[in-house]
Amino acid sequence: MKSAIHIAISLAALTVSTSSLAGDVKAGASVAQSCIMCHGEKGLSSMAGTPSIAGQPEMYLASQLRDFRDGKRHNEVMSLMAKPLSDADIDNVSAYFAQFEIELKKR
Ligand code: HEC
Repeated sequence: MKSAIHIAISLAALTVSTSSLAGDVKAGASVAQSCIMCHGEKGLSSMAGTPSIAGQPEMYLASQLRDFRDGKRHNEVMSLMAKPLSDADIDNVSAYFAQFEIELKKR
């Protein structure tokens, strides 16, 4: 009985943690200063050839940044941009851009 309650509590904690962001949005905002000239103020890009990163899943952004940094994904610009980022920088800047919600409308 006790363990059933325990499992219920752990599941509740899991639900809460998946709906919130893992990185620190505030710390990410300062890392993002070096990204917004290409990706746009809130990650909504208006530059040809540069994707919007606003509202993309935090885990996706973080994995792509690690891939650029670690040489698994190659791009002249992004490989350079990601090189100096620590794991914490990556988590935080990913949380920063993931915090925005994208709404779709027909043109
Ligand atoms: C000089 C312009 C420039 C700057 C500055 C820049 N990026 Fe990029 N970014 C790009 C371009 C161009 C691509 C597309 C790369 C490709 O085609 O593979 C890209 C791709 C990405 C992607 C992959 C998006 C996807 O949909 O797969 C992420 C994530 C990303 N950038 C994050 C960042 C972050 C975080 C920073 C700041 C630390 C940053 N970028 C700074 C130009 C830039």
